[in-house]
Amino acid sequence: MTTLLPGPDTVAQERRLVTELPGPRSRELAARRSAAVTSAVGSVLPVYVERASGGVVVDVDGNSFIDLGSGIAVTNVGHAAPEVVAAVQAQVAAFSHTCFMVGPYEGYVAVAEELDRLTPGDHEKRSALFNTGAEAVENAVKVARVATGRSAVVVFDHAYHGRTNLTMALTAKNMPYKNGFGPFAGEVYRVPMSYPYRDAPGTTGEQAAARAFDLIETQIGARNVAAVLIEPIQGEGGFVVPAPGFLAALSEWCRRSGAVFIADEVQTGFCRTGAWFASEHEGVVPDLVATAKGIAGGMPLAGVTGRAELMDAVHTGGLGGTYGGNPVACAAALATIRTMREQDLNAAARAIEATMLPRLHAIAERTGVVGDVRGRGAMLAVELVEPGTTEPDSALTNAISKACHAEGVITLTAGTHSNVLRFLPPLVIGQDLLTEGLDVLDAAFDAHAGK
Ligand SMILES: Cc1ncc(COP(=O)(O)O)c(C=O)c1O
Repeated sequence: MTTLLPGPDTVAQERRLVTELPGPRSRELAARRSAAVTSAVGSVLPVYVERASGGVVVDVDGNSFIDLGSGIAVTNVGHAAPEVVAAVQAQVAAFSHTCFMVGPYEGYVAVAEELDRLTPGDHEKRSALFNTGAEAVENAVKVARVATGRSAVVVFDHAYHGRTNLTMALTAKNMPYKNGFGPFAGEVYRVPMSYPYRDAPGTTGEQAAARAFDLIETQIGARNVAAVLIEPIQGEGGFVVPAPGFLAALSEWCRRSGAVFIADEVQTGFCRTGAWFASEHEGVVPDLVATAKGIAGGMPLAGVTGRAELMDAVHTGGLGGTYGGNPVACAAALATIRTMREQDLNAAARAIEATMLPRLHAIAERTGVVGDVRGRGAMLAVELVEPGTTEPDSALTNAISKACHAEGVITLTAGTHSNVLRFLPPLVIGQDLLTEGLDVLDAAFDAHAGK
């Protein structure tokens, strides 16, 4: 018997609210949840999901939401993308697990081949697969340490790299990610990010990099640095796009100093910014690239890809994990990448930018509460401040985001001061749906910050 999973053909691509929010079935689930699930895990939406397809998420009461979050930059190919659904179904029926470290299989090799091809640079590369972004970042650091014989890792203000012990240390923001969870892993050093909106006006990428190098050289010592780790556009930190030249200067400093330049492309990867990887916009070729999220259309998969001589510096058996490169996740990744190529989702991300940016700038001009509009492709954000100042306004950010949810549009927040509204629509979202989502956003701004 074949069970038809919901796809774009079976779920209307529309915003439709049919109950109060949360509806009765969501309220029932919330009551069960609070008796069974720790309150330490939070959720953005007050409703419970029954299905999702393309650019919409449908809750258990039949309310249909426009998704401008993609499960935090994961469903770049859209929810229940048909090729991904079919690939997962076929793979799970063939075999769902052997452990690549026990019985290897083609899907893992094929995903590694794709990663080696797609990541920036035409040098010889090797990949290893994992489950989560945090795991990918941890393993990139492991590779860099073994390959260089050094231990220090340089990270940046506003960085987010995950919630495991090492990646908490690599992450900047205390609440909610780190508070009370220490002691953290050592040999992690934080330096200032290039943050054009908050840096002194006119600060170039090269000047911001020089500020970082001065700290690295005086406080760590270049010869102790195993790796410089950076998100080419910061994710949870608030979609901070460094000034042009910053990433290239870091990469060049690493080359001169014998350190490994690691790009954390977990949130920026896989067509999100209008390129396969955000490093490409700056012409930067990282030594190692950490990937996850968008790689497999919603299945848990992550990778580290980089220079063959670095990746192969680790002793055999040094990298791995029970589920890393799970065959079902690999099948999903291959279908995801195929879909991205066939549908040219890099172009789709650029088209989303062309639709959204003028609307976001118009909001900024009309309301006076947006200090900065930034991002690339379908990774866009507005930073909210008190009018006439650069003081972060997290209360307004939260109010506007919640107002969007109440009207059936999923939005997310970010930023060290929780004052950034960020937008990560599925790249397949229809133009009508996107425009309707922006209309709702407009109305939310006008209701809460209107002039
Ligand atoms: C840039 C970046 N790195 C790492 C991570 C951690 O990924 P995961 O939540 O899959 O461990 C995230 C997650 O948001 C991220 O945005």
